[in-house]
Amino acid sequence: MDTTVPKFAIRSENGPIGAEITGLDLAIPLDDATFDEIESALYRHAVVVIRDCLQTPPQLASFSRRFGTPQINVRAEATNAETPEVFWISNITKDGQPVGSHDAGRYWHSDLCYLDAPSKVTLLNAIEVPTRDGMVFGDTRFAAATAAYDALSDDLKRRLEGLRAANGYRYMWNKKAHEFGLRPVLSEEELERYPPDALHPILRTHPVTGQKCLFVCEGYTHRIEGLEASESDELLRTLFEHLAKPEFLYRHKWQVGDLLMWDNCAVQHKATSDFELPLRRLMQRCTIEGTVPF
Ligand code: SIN
Repeated sequence: MDTTVPKFAIRSENGPIGAEITGLDLAIPLDDATFDEIESALYRHAVVVIRDCLQTPPQLASFSRRFGTPQINVRAEATNAETPEVFWISNITKDGQPVGSHDAGRYWHSDLCYLDAPSKVTLLNAIEVPTRDGMVFGDTRFAAATAAYDALSDDLKRRLEGLRAANGYRYMWNKKAHEFGLRPVLSEEELERYPPDALHPILRTHPVTGQKCLFVCEGYTHRIEGLEASESDELLRTLFEHLAKPEFLYRHKWQVGDLLMWDNCAVQHKATSDFELPLRRLMQRCTIEGTVPF
């Protein structure tokens, strides 16, 4: 369904998630009514792109603040020195050092789900997008956690009701280190500088829309409280596979200047690493603190 408003247009994608905003100039300060339209489009469509919106780090941080309190990522070496709310994601190396995180988003996840109050909204702005012969690489895929919940059998919903699962940054760190080799494997002691696990309900209620969402992340969720390890592993595997079913997916094909925003309760996301240097990808990201999941 197309909704046209005087200042800009919102066009939704076919499927459970995704919409595009065109004709919006973020260089002009946004009045509250316009911002409210953007925010409600985000909660309606879960993933929304504003086109042609290349931001400087301070501009990105400033727009992000309209949604709430920006989070400062625990991986300090990947944040922007002057504007630490901005986190760099790239495959580029400068003066022998990686520019930002080289292996961000490689698993299905919801941003900062390892914290007691995970991100509610993420804003990701494309500065360089890998292209060759007219083909674009490095898409970001999204899974509708709401539709995934709705499609669970009644039996499975009953089994999951009230269960909580551990979401671990430390678990993710070494999983990525072993699988991709783009970060060092850390000892238990070294991992202690990062946050401990956060326990979250597997079936989460969206704090704004009230919709139920499936909230387990392949990249971070590693144990269901109160279950034997084998039962927990099997159930998590079933849920990860369920979330990634094609009927729940939306694939964002990037253009330089895209400012993509997503609702981390309603969707999970995963980067596509189908390119390498000399193709370059440079993105800047802000995440906004959410509420404690219930
Ligand atoms: C992320 O996981 O926040 C980044 C996704 C991407 O780079 O496509």
